[in-house]
Amino acid sequence: MEQQQYDFGMIGLGTMGRNLVYNISDHGFSVSGFDKNEDQVKVLVKEAPSKNVTSTSSLPEFINSLKKPRVIMFLVPAGPIVDSVILELKPFLTKDDLLMDCGNSHFTDTDIRTEQLAKENIHFMGVGVSGGESGARFGPSIMPGGAKEAYDRVAPMLQAVSAKVNNEPCVTYVGKGSAGHYVKMVHNGIEYALMQLIAETYQLLKDVAGLNNDELHELYSKWNKKDLQSFLVEITADIFAKKDDLTDNRLVDMILASAGQKGTGQWTSQDALNQHIPIPVIDIAVSARDLSALKDERKQVQQNLFTAKPATAPLSATEKEAFIDAVEQALYFSMITTYAQGMSLLYHASGEYKYGLKLDEIAAIWRGGCIIRAALLEDIRSIFAKHPELSNILINDGIAKKLESAQDGIRAVIKKAVDASIPVPALMVSLAYHDTYRSAWLPFNLLQAQRDYFGAHTYQRTDRDGTFHTHWETK
Ligand code: 6PG
Repeated sequence: MEQQQYDFGMIGLGTMGRNLVYNISDHGFSVSGFDKNEDQVKVLVKEAPSKNVTSTSSLPEFINSLKKPRVIMFLVPAGPIVDSVILELKPFLTKDDLLMDCGNSHFTDTDIRTEQLAKENIHFMGVGVSGGESGARFGPSIMPGGAKEAYDRVAPMLQAVSAKVNNEPCVTYVGKGSAGHYVKMVHNGIEYALMQLIAETYQLLKDVAGLNNDELHELYSKWNKKDLQSFLVEITADIFAKKDDLTDNRLVDMILASAGQKGTGQWTSQDALNQHIPIPVIDIAVSARDLSALKDERKQVQQNLFTAKPATAPLSATEKEAFIDAVEQALYFSMITTYAQGMSLLYHASGEYKYGLKLDEIAAIWRGGCIIRAALLEDIRSIFAKHPELSNILINDGIAKKLESAQDGIRAVIKKAVDASIPVPALMVSLAYHDTYRSAWLPFNLLQAQRDYFGAHTYQRTDRDGTFHTHWETK
């Protein structure tokens, strides 16, 4: 009897891989899974919602189970593991097989792998997948990059499994080469910034406005019905309501104030610095994670040096209401500047790496399924649909009006935070980015003069063309 041939292969049957397999099989495609871990192999079939799923820990068996030319996805940790998966697969692959790396690989690795495999007539795609466990299971946002012909082969499956917004699939062909992984990296940079901003608003609401966890739950839930509507605000509201299983407290209060990172935010900052594209809110969010990890040092400094915070008088009911409104405006303002920076990095990277990104389509596929999905992305999508040449959404009149109406709020909040010794680096940088970006004159004339003074780096003048040098020393 001839063995059944499966439509797709999946290597890596951990949480994400397994859930993506189930999602694909829900849409009528058959999937064969491979993992070296026997337990994962067993779980995949045992918990599969349908019969069109199989799994094995034998690579030859896995390869033989797939229809030719094969389409093999993998969801394994980024880095050397991806290379070892490719190395082990290679002897079994034949012309026109397609490999899809669905993890968070660094885009430069994706370029190298694409080029090397192309020499052997094997297609390689870097595919960003966002949405965590439930996204993988019920509809992620998918950012596929690589050759367009390769994308066309898998487009019907990707469209079927992706999240939908107004019946539009949250997947599109992102661009050539490593475009998919680049866009996913920037998605994660934005994710870092939004998380940091929300965390700063939490401390302000807790310590200045004195809100308890129930009130925080209600407030973020309310915000999630208006301009701030987004996945991260929604889950933040949920978090405050969650009771701890081990104590009588809320779980959030029992969690260590220190957060880890896998590196994608840092990569975003590194590449932006390489290209000289300012994304300071993302940068500061990465630094804040690094500071968060210095838990013991922070504890020591708190004990040794700054025992007393300046006292903040409790707010009256009217002041409290006004402050909460201002925090809402501050978060909205800084969310806009965060997306502006992420999109502006994509704009420039598209030229630098020749990706041919369509920013309206990227905003569109981020509206559903992914961690940074937000109502604001609908506005951003329509701006780029009308003005695809826009290098920064802050130049757009509609966005300028939104920032204008929220700027009193963010300024008031930052003043209050400074008085209360509450660090709000991401909010501060959002405002500073805006204030810098909208100023035609900034004190960089002084920088030019200083560089010329100490290093004879020359300077340009406002009143005539050319390059000038002055002997500055007066003594
Ligand atoms: C997503 C997430 C996902 C993962 C991050 C976490 O889009 O589904 O971004 O990719 O949760 O990598 O990143 P850190 O561990 O660096 O916070």
